[in-house]
Amino acid sequence: MPFARAEIVPEAQQAAVDVLASGWITMGPQTAEFERELASYLGARHVVAVASCTAAIEIALRALRLGRGAAVLTPSLTFCGAVAPIVQAGLRPVLVDVDPDTFLPTPATVQHMAGYPADVPELAAAAGLPASAVVEDAAHGLGAELRGTRLGGASRAACFSFYATKNLPIGEGGAVATDDDELAGYVRTARLHGLSRDAWRRYLPGGSWRYDVAEPGLKANITDVQAAIGRAQLAMLPRWQARRKYLAGQYDAALARVPGLGLPPRPADGRHAWHLYQVRVTSACGISRDAVIDALTDCAIGTSVHFIPVHQLSGYQPILGPEECRSVPVTDQIAQEVLSLPMYPALTDADVTRVADALLGIVGPALGLLGVRAAWGLSWSARARRDGRWPAPCGAAPAMGWSRSAFSTTPLASSVLSGCRCSGLSRRSRR
Ligand SMILES: Cc1ncc(COP(=O)(O)O)c(C=O)c1O
Repeated sequence: MPFARAEIVPEAQQAAVDVLASGWITMGPQTAEFERELASYLGARHVVAVASCTAAIEIALRALRLGRGAAVLTPSLTFCGAVAPIVQAGLRPVLVDVDPDTFLPTPATVQHMAGYPADVPELAAAAGLPASAVVEDAAHGLGAELRGTRLGGASRAACFSFYATKNLPIGEGGAVATDDDELAGYVRTARLHGLSRDAWRRYLPGGSWRYDVAEPGLKANITDVQAAIGRAQLAMLPRWQARRKYLAGQYDAALARVPGLGLPPRPADGRHAWHLYQVRVTSACGISRDAVIDALTDCAIGTSVHFIPVHQLSGYQPILGPEECRSVPVTDQIAQEVLSLPMYPALTDADVTRVADALLGIVGPALGLLGVRAAWGLSWSARARRDGRWPAPCGAAPAMGWSRSAFSTTPLASSVLSGCRCSGLSRRSRR
């Protein structure tokens, strides 16, 4: 079971072929239609499609016309693609820590982690910023809402990603959604070198070859091949979002039995986009997050970690400086515990059950062994590791030589074990 699976529906594949055959494959009429349709889905006045969410954030930040070196608040528990544009725009990232439940920043420039909508007005007010100074990283947020307002509705602009694993997968691509006419105009020009007329308009009947560049921009346009795929994929989005929500509910129910596992919270007054289903492997699980990843890998279950905090990446440490790097202790703690499970529309109910059973088989025996360790007076973990039998993926306890009665010394462990599918295969034989 892969961690992610990009689904390109047949209609989108055909749309790409049609564009390739049309003779116009870079940004053009398909892009204009995609922008119109996405704006209608979001209820935004403008959508401007660009090459990536990274580019969207950079151009939106440039549009704010902040002075060189101006501070931009950002969580560190994010993808480097959210912090790189701050640096590239000549601004200074200032890290803010996150809430241990939502993984979201508190008073800060906002990011909608995993699809949980951040409370933009509240955060902007706490940071002493007007909403017009907030650019939302909505890479995870397509489909999310807060108090009936879509992302970007309460800020200057929201930046979306159409990367292969995102809720609207195109492969690559991004967009800025905004109600601000001036900002939209800036993004339209800045995405293509700052050209006063993009190529498509220059070649339209009556178009002119002349152009000017009043302000140098980026080469960050989308293409019509991507836009055509995006249009066909967009038609699927409501169905896909409903499926994600359903799967999150299935996960919640199945994983409630896994002791110590922190489950994702629900927004009190909003709609989660369920881009990710993230759990926390807390110390109460009796096993580290990294060991859980290894054990799930042995069960052929793909996972991911969102994210390695940006301040832990070697190239960002000199940019941020030691003081900034020390300023986010909650992020440091969460980064050791957070784990993203497979979440995509094609995931089946049986897949969710398999993931939950595997987690029960990994975490449950860990706790059971902790419970009996003192009684036995032996170093169970050292012994099991030496024998290559730890951790026990997929509920493989009987094949490991640990008797079931040993687990029954703790009622918790025995109830956990009863939820496992004991395959009888050892870790090595699964490889
Ligand atoms: C939170 C976050 N922000 C920004 C990005 C950058 O998106 P893109 O790959 O479209 O540039 C990503 C990509 O994964 C992301 O997860």
